[in-house]
Amino acid sequence: MLGRELFLTLLILRIKNNAVESCHFQNNISAVEEEPFYLKYCLSSSAHGNEAATIKWSKFNESLGWVELNPRPSPRITLHDYALEFWPVELNDQGRYLFQMGNSTQEWELKVTKRNKHSCFSEKQVTSKSVTVKKSFQINCSKNYYEKWINRTSLYKNCEKIEESSKKLLMVKNAKFEDQGYYSCVFSLLHNGKLYNLTSTFNITVLGDHTKRIPVYLGPKFNRVEVELGESIELNCSALANQNDAVYWNFQKENETHVNVHEKEGKEIWISEGKEYVSKILKIEKVNEKNIGFLYNCTVGDTVSMDTQSFILVRKGTTDIPNHVFTRGMIISILISVAVVCLVILCVIFRVDLVLFYRHLVGRNETLTDGKTYDAFVSYLKECHSESGEEYTFAVETLPKVLEKHFGYKLCIFERDVVPGGAVVDEIHSLIEKSRRIIIVLSKSYMSNEVIYELKSGLHKALVERKVKIILIQFSPVSDFVFLPQSLKLLKSHRVLKWKADEPLSYNSRFWKNLVYLMPAKVTKPGQEESEDLPVLSVP
Ligand SMILES: *[C@@H]1O[C@H](CO)[C@@H](O)[C@H](O)[C@H]1NC(C)=O
Ligand SMILES: *[C@@H]1O[C@H](CO)[C@@H](O)[C@H](O)[C@H]1NC(C)=O
Ligand SMILES: *[C@@H]1O[C@H](CO)[C@@H](O)[C@H](O)[C@H]1NC(C)=O
Ligand SMILES: *[C@@H]1O[C@H](CO)[C@@H](O)[C@H](O)[C@H]1NC(C)=O
Ligand SMILES: *[C@@H]1O[C@H](CO)[C@@H](O)[C@H](O)[C@H]1NC(C)=O
Repeated sequence: MLGRELFLTLLILRIKNNAVESCHFQNNISAVEEEPFYLKYCLSSSAHGNEAATIKWSKFNESLGWVELNPRPSPRITLHDYALEFWPVELNDQGRYLFQMGNSTQEWELKVTKRNKHSCFSEKQVTSKSVTVKKSFQINCSKNYYEKWINRTSLYKNCEKIEESSKKLLMVKNAKFEDQGYYSCVFSLLHNGKLYNLTSTFNITVLGDHTKRIPVYLGPKFNRVEVELGESIELNCSALANQNDAVYWNFQKENETHVNVHEKEGKEIWISEGKEYVSKILKIEKVNEKNIGFLYNCTVGDTVSMDTQSFILVRKGTTDIPNHVFTRGMIISILISVAVVCLVILCVIFRVDLVLFYRHLVGRNETLTDGKTYDAFVSYLKECHSESGEEYTFAVETLPKVLEKHFGYKLCIFERDVVPGGAVVDEIHSLIEKSRRIIIVLSKSYMSNEVIYELKSGLHKALVERKVKIILIQFSPVSDFVFLPQSLKLLKSHRVLKWKADEPLSYNSRFWKNLVYLMPAKVTKPGQEESEDLPVLSVP
C-alpha cells in the first residue's frame, strides 16, 4: 500500500512540476546583483484546491522577525501569482523569504552575489556539464519564466559573442577538445520599458574516452644523452599512457655503482586534450665514468601492457672543436710547416754562406793550436805538363793567388816549396803530416807513382787516422772515377768540387766559397795585395 501511495505522489508531483515549471524547490538559492530574479512557490498536492486562499510573502528581519511584504512593496519588487519578482535583484535583497498560502508554506534563503566586473558571467552561477569527446552536446538558451519579456538572446563562448539570433539552441555534434569552455546565454529582457540583462552560463568540459591505451613514449625508444663528467642531469621518461599506469626506472638501486642516481619521488600526471600523460624523472648527480655507457631503462604500463624506454649516457665529443677554430688551426699549422720546410731548404742551400758568415762573425780560428804549418797540401799532376797545362796553372798559380793572397791561407805546393833532391817519399809524408787539408786536383792523367803515393798516404791519414781532411777538385770533365782507389769513392760528395775553367770566377763565386768552407776556419785578412788578382781568376 505504502509503495503504491508513494508512486502516486511522485506521479502527481511530476505532472504538477510540468505545470509550474521553473519554481524553486531547493531552499538555498543564489542570484547575481543587477539581474532580474524571482522566487516562485511550487504548488504541492496539499495546496491543491485551495487557490482562493490569500497569499502572503514575508522577509525575515533580524530585529523585527518576519515582516510581511505589501502587495506592492516597491516598483522594483512585484508579486505575481505564486512568484516574487525582482527587477532587478540588489545586494540588500539577500535574506530569508517565506511564502504562505493557507496552511502551505515555503521558505528560501537567498544569497545575492556581486557581479563580476571583469567577466561576462559570474563564476558562482555556472552549470557544469561534461561531455565525452566525439559525442554531441547542446546549449539550450531558454528561460521559460521570462519568455514574454525576452527581447533578444545572444550566445557567448568564453565571453566572446558567437551567435545572436532567435535560435535558442546550440547543438554541437562530434565534440572536440577545443569546444570546451564557458557558454553564456545573455537574455535582454524588456520590462516596463526598461532593458535588463540576464545571463545563464554552462561550464562545458570535454573529456577523453577512457578506453585503456597502450603506453606510447614521448621521444625515441632509445636515447643517447651527451654529458660531461661532473655534470648533473635529469632523465625524463614520459609517455602517453593511462593515469593509473605505473612508471618506474629499473636499475639496481642497491648497487654502489649508482649511489649518485636517484628516482624522483612520485610520478607526474597531466592531461592534455583529454589524453593522459605520465612521467618520472631520474636524477644523476655528478656523472662519473661508471654512469657512462650504462643503459638506464624506464618502464611504463600495467601488468598487461608495458613498454621500456632506454637512455644511455655518452661523453660529449672531445673533437667537437668549433669548425672555424679547427680550420683556422689547420691553416696556421700548415703555414708554419711550410715556413719551417722553406727555412730548412734555405739553410741547406745557403749552408756554406751561413757557415762562412758565422766564421766571419765570431772570428773563429781553428789553426792556432794544432801545431801544423800548412793549411793545405796541394797534390796535382806534376808530369805530362804538355797535356795538363791548365791543371798546372790552376795548382801553381790560381790556387795560391786566391787562397793565399786573398783568403790568407798557407799552402804547401811540392814543386814550389820543396827543394829538389832528398828523400821524396819521406818529404811528402812529413809535409802531409804538417797540413790540415789535402787538396787533390783530379784528372785522368793523375796516376803517376809519386802522386799515387801522395794520394794513398793522404787517404790513409784522412780515413784511418782522421788527422787530415781531403778536398777533391775535379778539374777536367771526368766522366768516371774507375781508376781511383776504392776508398776515395767513399768521400762525401760535398768534399768534391768541380772547377769549370771556362767560367769567369770572382772571389764571391760558389766554387771559392765552397772551397773556403772546406778549408779550416781562419781569420782572413783580405784586401792586402790582390788588386791585380781578378784577371787571374778569369782563366780562359
Ligand atoms: C568548470 O569545469 C572544470 C572541469 O570540471 C572545473 O575544473 C572548473 O572549476 C569549472 N569552473 C567553474 C567556474 O566552476
Ligand atoms: C527589442 O526592444 C527594442 C526597443 O528597446 C524594440 O525596438 C524591438 O522591437 C524589441 N525586439 C523584440 C524582438 O521584442
Ligand atoms: C546588457 O548587455 C549588453 C551587451 O552585453 C550591454 O550593452 C548592456 O549595457 C547591458 N545592459 C544592462 C542593463 O546591463
Ligand atoms: C618531462 O617531459 C614532459 C614531456 O616533454 C614534460 O611535459 C614535463 O614537464 C617534463 N618534466 C620535467 C620535470 O621536466
Ligand atoms: C634495458 O633494456 C635493454 C633492451 O631495451 C636490455 O638489453 C637491457 O638489459 C636493459 N637493462 C637493464 C639494466 O634493465
